[in-house]
Amino acid sequence: MTAIKENFSLKKFNTFGVDVSCRYFAEIGSEQDIQNLIADDKYNRQQKFVLGGGSNILFTKNFDGIVLHDRFEGIGVVSVDEDYAFVKAGAGEAWHELVLYCLGKNFGGVENLSLIPGFVGAAPIQNIGAYGEELKNVFHSLTAIDLSTGEPKVFSADECRFGYRDSIFKREAKNKYIITDVTLRLNKKPVINTTYGAIEKELEHMNVTSPTIGDVSNAVIKIRSSKLPDPKVIGNCGSFFKNPTIPIEKYDRLQHVFPDLVAYPAQGNAMKLSAGWMIEKCGWKGKRNGNVGMHKDQALVLVNYGGATGRELLQHAAEVQKSVKESFGIIMEAEVNVL
Ligand code: EPU
Repeated sequence: MTAIKENFSLKKFNTFGVDVSCRYFAEIGSEQDIQNLIADDKYNRQQKFVLGGGSNILFTKNFDGIVLHDRFEGIGVVSVDEDYAFVKAGAGEAWHELVLYCLGKNFGGVENLSLIPGFVGAAPIQNIGAYGEELKNVFHSLTAIDLSTGEPKVFSADECRFGYRDSIFKREAKNKYIITDVTLRLNKKPVINTTYGAIEKELEHMNVTSPTIGDVSNAVIKIRSSKLPDPKVIGNCGSFFKNPTIPIEKYDRLQHVFPDLVAYPAQGNAMKLSAGWMIEKCGWKGKRNGNVGMHKDQALVLVNYGGATGRELLQHAAEVQKSVKESFGIIMEAEVNVL
């Protein structure tokens, strides 16, 4: 039978380092573990929450249900054709371990996504993205088990309905499945993507003129480490808010008032505004408020300096959100899941 712990502390299981607990906690590493849970009425009646690396969740209270900690393991090549290699990874593997595995085999496509914290299973949920790449560009399929029936189901890329930090698993399918594995389609002849300005600059700095995927990965690791706080040192979940997307007409009006507004073209006659820039303009960058604040090197990152509660963190985020709304008329949406 699956080992189930009671009144279990989640402090080490969320990168904000918030001290909350759950009523029950179970590690799920096989289909059988889920079947056992479903067969046991005591646990099956409980509200369920699937937790991976805990790097995109803000707990504001204790969880009165069962936390299912994704422990599905293994990384391997499932097939190759002339152009692509298909690599399958267990949802409980660390995302960066998968990146390292692909780099080791010279399979291209995930190097720009180096060092993103969290588990493989969470990557499709929020369609992780960084430095000009998104998971959806290399995603092939995933397997997930329906938590009410125990039936496995394969989701294609289309079925995942990926968007900017978004997928079906944040919407209709929220909390309905546990993802067990993810398969990526990687390039056997890697194509280097250095379109994101910071990468080019970093490669220049590294004196690299014809970069390999390993060089791109190293550049990304350097950039990330220089700006983003290490969750092992300062509690955080990366960007707390999404970069808001607005219609081009609204952007033109705003840009007229704020000529140095930072924004990038987005799909469908729209612009994506830099939330970090707006937060910095409002004076929040590096400003500490008790145990919480927005990070000194990246204003989009909400941090726990130690001992903050989820409510304190959420309250701070709400203040930041309010002041950006007042100054720019823009509503920032949380990127991190709040529970
Ligand atoms: N900026 C500021 N002040 C700040 C932060 C940013 O002015 O404090 C402006 C600068 O002009 C900077 C620009 O915003 O050049 C872009 O900043 P950055 O490259 O750090 O990217 P971002 O838009 O703030 C997004 C993702 C990150 C991802 C980076 C790099 C979102 C919500 N965040 O941040 O993802 O690493 O791009 O691609 O889309 C995450 O999702 O947790 C995350 C860290």
